[in-house]
Amino acid sequence: MRITVTGAAGQIGYALLFRIASGAMLGPDEPIQLRLLEVPQAMRAAEGIAMELDDCAFPQLASIDISDDATSAFDGASIALLVGSRPRTAGMERGDLLAANGGIFGPQGRAINDTAAEDIRVLVVGNPANTNALIAASHAPDVPASRFTAMTRLDHNRALSQLARHTGAPVSSLTRMTIWGNHSATQYPDLSHALVAGDPVSVQQDWVESEFIPTVARRGAAIIEARGSSSAASAANAAIEHLRDWIGGTPDGDWTSAGIVSDGSYGVPAGLVSSFPVTSSGGEWALVPDLSIDAFSRSRIDASVAELLDERNAVEALGLLAGRA
Ligand code: NAD
Ligand code: LMR
Repeated sequence: MRITVTGAAGQIGYALLFRIASGAMLGPDEPIQLRLLEVPQAMRAAEGIAMELDDCAFPQLASIDISDDATSAFDGASIALLVGSRPRTAGMERGDLLAANGGIFGPQGRAINDTAAEDIRVLVVGNPANTNALIAASHAPDVPASRFTAMTRLDHNRALSQLARHTGAPVSSLTRMTIWGNHSATQYPDLSHALVAGDPVSVQQDWVESEFIPTVARRGAAIIEARGSSSAASAANAAIEHLRDWIGGTPDGDWTSAGIVSDGSYGVPAGLVSSFPVTSSGGEWALVPDLSIDAFSRSRIDASVAELLDERNAVEALGLLAGRA
């Protein structure tokens, strides 16, 4: 299995590559060919990581290639983890950030379209993840849109952990958590269908609104404030779980959350990359259908979707979307 990781010399890359190579994503029996894509100025650092990967002597790691050229990095890839992106720097407006990242994810989407394997599956981690995935997918008209996803698994895991802490129930007893919308502060972590040991969650709505939702939605910012840089090991872990479940399937009776291209379900305009409750089987994500959405949930989902629409309009105005979007 050929796996391309962009931004390989960054923080998440450092937490991700060793776990992929150890078999945490695809299991112990799948030989792995790693392709690392970096910018030219980070090639030397990527070489150092490749040396360290060598030094682990992972039995399943068949090869490591490093490149600063997207066309060769995605050649024959069955999995692409798009981690490398342009971080927001002081004085940068949101439009500047969207434009800078559009310049990365458009060409990478095109390279995936032209060179990746037919079974390519793409996870976009680099922020703004949902809109970067939208841009990449729009540049890959020959790849089914369902193969482009954005990561909200970290938000999902954060929500599970906060619920476990509040209820005292172990994480292993929690199921049917949902993250809706954008990987941003507008996301909606939804407890209305969640179960604790098979029973509906029983918590105060006041806790949900004043503690649970803000804690989950602002966790990324809290980590940046505490660590001085954004989450890396937990993000890498979430990326591994996203791909592991996409390929290997989700457990019976449970679901997870992923940013997928909307088919118009749950009032999310078709084509937007939004987080939904999803199951996976046979290597395909499927939306969990027919969930009841109460008025509170509706307003929260709509608010996050409005932000996604704004982002789509902004990148469209910047000319960053190709034919399919
Ligand atoms: P980082 O700055 O440590 O690393 C980013 C790497 O990407 C750098 O090595 C840089 O050289 C590389 N890069 C930049 N442009 C590239 C390009 N065109 N091609 C290949 N590589 C390129 O950042 P990080 O901490 O690893 O985070 C990476 C991204 O993931 C950020 O956008 C961050 O906001 C995002 N993130 C997302 C989630 C999520 O849940 N979706 C969680 C945490 C972080
Ligand atoms: C996170 O959720 O930890 C990151 O997306 C935060 C960020 O802005 O990098």
